[in-house]
Amino acid sequence: MILVTGGAGFIGANFVRLFLSGGKGEEVINVDRLTYAGNIENVRDLDSSKHIFVHGDIGGRNLMRDLLDRYRPRAVLNFAAESHVDRSIDSAGEFIQTNVVGLFNLLEAVRAYWSSLPDSGDLSRDTFRFLQVSTDEVYGSLAPDEPAFAESNAFQPNSPYSASKAAGDHLVRAWHHTYGLPTVTTNCSNNYGPYQFPEKLIPLAVLNALAGKPIPIYGDGQQIRDWLYVEDHCRAILRALEAGTPGEVYNVGGDNERRNLEVVHALCGVLDRLRPKQDGTSYAEQICFVKDRPGHDRRYAVDSRKAAKELGWRPEEGFESGLERTIAWYLANGDWVAGIQTGAYREWVKTHYGEYA
Ligand code: NAD
Ligand code: TYD
Repeated sequence: MILVTGGAGFIGANFVRLFLSGGKGEEVINVDRLTYAGNIENVRDLDSSKHIFVHGDIGGRNLMRDLLDRYRPRAVLNFAAESHVDRSIDSAGEFIQTNVVGLFNLLEAVRAYWSSLPDSGDLSRDTFRFLQVSTDEVYGSLAPDEPAFAESNAFQPNSPYSASKAAGDHLVRAWHHTYGLPTVTTNCSNNYGPYQFPEKLIPLAVLNALAGKPIPIYGDGQQIRDWLYVEDHCRAILRALEAGTPGEVYNVGGDNERRNLEVVHALCGVLDRLRPKQDGTSYAEQICFVKDRPGHDRRYAVDSRKAAKELGWRPEEGFESGLERTIAWYLANGDWVAGIQTGAYREWVKTHYGEYA
């Protein structure tokens, strides 16, 4: 079996679902603290004989050690994190706590378990893997004419979120070099798809559009992100788990650079087709420009040639088709949307977007 952390969040839940649908019969232990971003509804329908959910914190070293000793997984995949840049700007403490201190405690629990494994055999120190799910944001921001982020780029994180993830990646690297822990790290670009919490651009814009609210664009909307459909990211993680070399880092991107304004216009076009407004106007009329994010990174782009060459991975979903699939999912899952729009979520929207909420 494998142990996944943060598997009730957006990417973790998509990963667990993909893994279990693979039909190999292998079980998943899913440890999640269920923060505001974690949602048990993302995994509640999964077969409980194959999916064991544990409500817990990666920073709980004793809990993690007990789970590892009890279930003896062949791999630990760490998706758990505080993940939203705007929240990290408002309040960075939780980001340091989970993405750095929590990860340190997790690495120590995993190292103790890994050290107790035999030298060789089906489950051994040799076969075990620790996979760290990270972000392209650790590399900082690119000028318009700069080449995409390669694995050899220096870390230049600019937000409290990306700094905390960069610190975490450094810990993972050190645990490999110093202790020999067989780690693999993936640094991925912006994901979108089903189950994404509506604080991130695409689901926020879709739900605001449908609710007749303004669709907020930070600054001039010319910032560029490289968008990847979440299932493609999950397939890359699977490949990195099975074929990644210990100690290595793999960049994962969609080769889909888009300006934020383009993304939001595309999304409004899809909504105009799938759920036309009764008054015949376009959702694009709801777009409004708001104050920019402090320290806003201008451009991300990812060079995934290493993942293509060494893992045989390539994205399969195009941006336009992926966007349509995503929007269709949100339209079809009104109960899920209603379920996450709790008081705490509304409070965040009110304090962050003020009059635009
Ligand atoms: P998310 O915020 O949707 O989910 C994070 C999950 O981690 C939640 O279920 C939350 O409850 C859980 N969690 C938080 N703190 C925890 C703790 N201390 N112990 C246990 N569980 C905890 O995030 P996501 O978008 O699914 O991102 C998952 C990972 O992928 C993160 O590490 C993130 O940095 C990385 N990543 C995200 C993107 C993206 O575009 N969303 C891109 C590249 C990399
Ligand atoms: P986001 O989804 O928060 O991801 P990240 O900051 O990790 O890239 O934001 C994606 C881009 O969209 C980013 O440039 C900020 C911008 N953005 C807006 O313009 N308006 C919004 O309401 C949000 C949430 C993001």
